[in-house]
Amino acid sequence: MSNEDRVVLALGGAGTVGSGIVKALLDRGFKVAVISRDNSKLEKLKGFVSPSTKSNLTTLVGNVGSEEGVEEVKQALLKSVGKITDVVSSLGFSWWQGGPPHTQPLKELQWVIETLLFSTFVSWKAFFPLVRDDPNCTYTFITGGAGEKVLMPGTGFLTVGAASALAFCQVLREEYPEVPCKLNQVKINTGVAAPDRMAPGYLNHLDLGEAVAALVERRNASHTVFAVSCPADLKTVILEGNLGTRQVNWNGFKKPPIDKESHSEAIRVIVIHIEGILGQRLSLLMQSGMFSPSARKLSEQSSHLPIRRLGLPLRNRLSQRFPSPSDFN
Ligand SMILES: NC(=O)c1ccc[n+]([C@@H]2O[C@H](COP(=O)([O-])OP(=O)(O)OC[C@H]3O[C@@H](n4cnc5c(N)ncnc54)[C@H](OP(=O)(O)O)[C@@H]3O)[C@@H](O)[C@H]2O)c1
Repeated sequence: MSNEDRVVLALGGAGTVGSGIVKALLDRGFKVAVISRDNSKLEKLKGFVSPSTKSNLTTLVGNVGSEEGVEEVKQALLKSVGKITDVVSSLGFSWWQGGPPHTQPLKELQWVIETLLFSTFVSWKAFFPLVRDDPNCTYTFITGGAGEKVLMPGTGFLTVGAASALAFCQVLREEYPEVPCKLNQVKINTGVAAPDRMAPGYLNHLDLGEAVAALVERRNASHTVFAVSCPADLKTVILEGNLGTRQVNWNGFKKPPIDKESHSEAIRVIVIHIEGILGQRLSLLMQSGMFSPSARKLSEQSSHLPIRRLGLPLRNRLSQRFPSPSDFN
């Protein structure tokens, strides 16, 4: 399927992060649909994309944060574009620094969770069924590293909201390990802005958009978290895939039979759940030949071997080189 035949739904596509992604997708020949609650933002987006690609952009006013709202706009969307092949979800807000928790009303926390988590969940529930069963389709979440630490005083609710989105993405990866659709997450550990609003260390939303559009185009990774901390990561992490953390599909893999006579020689494939490296959870399929005798014994008792039970040399090797899921296909 060429890019011209693909229709990407960009949730949050009128925002800072989303608009860079929308422009890059259109420049690569994709058709793109954007939903926003605010028509003036959609008009601004139309003026922002390359003029020659404007006819491939469909915009709809709608609220994907409520179940009724999302159903309504979904019907209008399908009527307008016919099908969706890919979804990029960059819902939320750019920044929040309302103050420490004791100064905040419950309403504020509700707004944060509604905007970062509820809209992400409600829209995923509505749109994922359109792409779920097709290996040529993709669903990509944009999340923020603010979910892993408090960035500065007064930003606590940003951390709570961003953490809920990170947790939701983790739940999807683990609850749907075998889903054919390419399910990925780009976790941005720094600020993102348009060129006229850049600050030191920020990513240009156009550069980020280019990298995300390339990821959507390639469709060669799934259940992967691409963590981006600086501009160079856009190339090494997303385009070359060096530091993505992957959940390798264990259930779909057949274990080779073990020859009882030569058990110690047998090449047994096991799954290791690694927690702690790069702060992410990673599952790998490994051959038991790579393990020390004691670790191999453990692996025979259970197909899930915690990283702390592995020797340091192997742990170091794992942290340097993550095998690609395709190595095991
Ligand atoms: N900007 C950064 O520095 C940065 C850094 C790291 C990670 N991120 C992540 O990137 C994501 C997007 O951030 P951003 O900077 O692009 O924020 P943004 O400029 O505020 O854009 C977010 C978009 O989400 C949309 N949205 C939210 N709730 C919606 C709903 N119920 N229905 C329809 N649309 C809804 C908004 O659409 P309307 O208001 O137009 O309806 C808005 O256009 C966030 O999850 C954030 O954590 C951002």
